[in-house]
Amino acid sequence: MRVSSSPLFSALPLLQPLACPLLNCGCRLLLANGSTVLYRRFSTDRSALQSVIGQNSVEVLGQSYPRDDFTNVTPKILAMVGRNLHNQSHHPLWLIKERIKAHFYSAYIRRSGTPLFSVYDNLNPVVTVEQNFDSLLIPPGHPSRKRGDNYYLNRTMMLRAHTSAHQSELVKSGLDAFLLAGDVYRRDEIDTSHYPVFHQMEGVRLFSNHELFSKVQNGEELSLFECGGQRTPQKQETHTLEAVKLVEFDLKDTLTRLITHLFGEDLEIRWSDCYFPFTHPSFEMEVRFQGNWMEVLGCGVMEQELLNSAGAGNKLGWAFGLGLERLAMVLYSIPDIRLFWSQDERFFKQFRVQDIHQPICFQPLSKFPPLHNDISFWLPESREGQESFTENDFYELVRSIGGEMVEKVSLVDDFIHPKSPKSKTVHLGCLSYSTKCPVNYI
Ligand code: PHE
Repeated sequence: MRVSSSPLFSALPLLQPLACPLLNCGCRLLLANGSTVLYRRFSTDRSALQSVIGQNSVEVLGQSYPRDDFTNVTPKILAMVGRNLHNQSHHPLWLIKERIKAHFYSAYIRRSGTPLFSVYDNLNPVVTVEQNFDSLLIPPGHPSRKRGDNYYLNRTMMLRAHTSAHQSELVKSGLDAFLLAGDVYRRDEIDTSHYPVFHQMEGVRLFSNHELFSKVQNGEELSLFECGGQRTPQKQETHTLEAVKLVEFDLKDTLTRLITHLFGEDLEIRWSDCYFPFTHPSFEMEVRFQGNWMEVLGCGVMEQELLNSAGAGNKLGWAFGLGLERLAMVLYSIPDIRLFWSQDERFFKQFRVQDIHQPICFQPLSKFPPLHNDISFWLPESREGQESFTENDFYELVRSIGGEMVEKVSLVDDFIHPKSPKSKTVHLGCLSYSTKCPVNYI
């Protein structure tokens, strides 16, 4: 998280030894040392588990947490926990997550032929304060820990404020290249690009001495670490400048290739230096959207102390965290972040494409529900050899009056009077709604 604005962070519920009394969803997990722990298996539809704020405890995703003076989650926020928009097939956040996965799977392959990066998208958003802050070297009293900026269940548990909260646990589990997507929660201003719940994709890649320098001439003579070095704006004290420069280059190259894959060459991007307690040096990428520069991701070279305490002290790594909503807004021209929470069929159906790479340009919805107008009229009799009416005449008339506002016109019935077979009633049902109404999409 940056010091200046809101925080970013969270933990490892994948291996959390929690027994879940509901629906026999507690499972035994075999650990490498042969012992077993009970862990929670989440059904993909966690929304089935109701969140409740009781007098003494808060129940989230089937687990109960005691309340204390730090508890500040609200029913409105808890109602969004478990919605997992990023896992709902064809939701725009799912589409963009799948596109990012597909890119990483095909662009980065191990010598064995398997994808280099593994992907996690179902880690529990309830994390410990330790995961969200301490594991990322965010000191006690740091402004990003403020109650006013986060959703706490109590003094030790919270809704993750960023997917970085899981970095340490996943590195500890032995991974050295992974992506992780999830919902994150921050008390924030509400406008078209901020919402208290949004989604991030985290990426981490670690390099051994050999992996980093194998492509460099005489690389065997180079080393990741140095003793007695100094922390400068370019690097951490224990890193060699050559190692950091290669890691930084790989990070920026990976992200530039990702953004070019998603948006093509034309999107304008720019890098700026910034600060996160868990990376140094740190950078931010901004993209030009509707005439303004919009921040879409933070990244940097991982703090060595974090890797040391996660058991990967012989490696150097980079990490990034990108905002899925921000990217989806640019990619699909979605003008307002609240639209992602829409339950309106007119929103979803625009994203139901066969191929995840198919371009989509979102057509704004009206704040009004669809309006059905029915009309029926008698047709004049046909003259010799000449049709008095064709359906297209009517469509043309509707188009010239209703323009863009009319979505569809369909014939629902026709009728021929039994006693006057030559005249025919045509009953046309007309469904229309405005495509121009701004605001209040949900
Ligand atoms: N967690 C940071 C945020 O939410 C982003 C980030 C991730 C920065 C990884 C650096 C490395 O803003």
